[in-house]
Amino acid sequence: MSTSSADPAVATRGVWRGLLVEYADRMPIGADTPIVTLREGGTPLIHSEFLSELTGCDVHLKFDGVNPTGSFKDRGMTLAISKAKEAGAEAVICASTGNTSAAAAAYAAKAGLTAAVVVPKGRIALGKLAQAVIHGATVLQVDGNFDDALEVCRDLADRYPVELVNSVNPYRIDGQRTAAWEICDQLGRAPDLHLLPVGNAGNITAHWRGYREYHADGVIDALPVVHGFQAAGASPIVRGERVTSPSTIATAIRIGNPASWPHAVAAAEESGGSITAVSDRQILAAFRLSARHGVFAELASTAPIAGLLALHEQGRLPSGATVVCVLTGHGLKDPDWAVAGAGEPTTIPVDADRAARVLGLA
Ligand code: F0G
Repeated sequence: MSTSSADPAVATRGVWRGLLVEYADRMPIGADTPIVTLREGGTPLIHSEFLSELTGCDVHLKFDGVNPTGSFKDRGMTLAISKAKEAGAEAVICASTGNTSAAAAAYAAKAGLTAAVVVPKGRIALGKLAQAVIHGATVLQVDGNFDDALEVCRDLADRYPVELVNSVNPYRIDGQRTAAWEICDQLGRAPDLHLLPVGNAGNITAHWRGYREYHADGVIDALPVVHGFQAAGASPIVRGERVTSPSTIATAIRIGNPASWPHAVAAAEESGGSITAVSDRQILAAFRLSARHGVFAELASTAPIAGLLALHEQGRLPSGATVVCVLTGHGLKDPDWAVAGAGEPTTIPVDADRAARVLGLA
């Protein structure tokens, strides 16, 4: 017999209700705000034995790739789309390297809004493009990079009746603060070090804001040191100048002129951290290493693991520190890099003994 209708307490026990309900008291929403949710957030904080052993720290992976559309973007999109709907918007638009467009398309579809997404031509992972298409968004591709796409979208939103849902929309940042809160709630404290990838720099801005608010309210006693990592070929903040032709295999963070640049610098400086670059080779190694230990995150997501290993090699990790690496997107978004160089699986007849020989069991 089902207890779900008889006993609401049992029916809702342990059920995650989505960020706008779980963190309602910290969100800019009112009784009239329609809650557009896919039950995002509540993502696992996974202890990493192998990275802890390797570095002498206590390392945890915040796997935001298991959000409903496979990336952390859902955290901001639930709020941005809810507020767009509250304001009576009918259409939303965003520029994207892929994940924002996937989230915008999904949440707009849930809300019954029209979505258009502008992406750099030929530079977004197939899984992400598939998401935008299947959720019914109109996809436009520009002959240019993400920065060009964002310029088009900003101009469009200025002059036409369409709501911009990139992270220049403050509700996106407001929603993405929740990752920091969840980490503190899960650890029972703030980590000593908080590591994450940096692209358009919205997420580092949001996380630092989230930590500062928890600290100001006395929820945590201390703030983390924040280290952000850009891909070497797309590292404007590290170089201190705009990169006109950003280049990296980590297409999610292939950005040459981050919208939240000054906030990212402030987060690193105020926390005593840094923004540094990791090479594509380091990212690829971290991508494989992470997957070999059970967590399949997309390339850009593993930049903080590459960064952690670099900090370790440089002797810059305080021994025994509690470290969180935020893995921002799921590996299935872009399976090409996972199978690249793996070779064809061995074909066998329907014969267990043959399988055993191939497996070295016989
Ligand atoms: N990781 C992933 C998987 C991303 O998709 C992004 C950004 C980042 C990290 C960087 O976060 O921009 O807040 O610094 N993706 C954006 C997009 C640009 O369009 O999906 P950020």
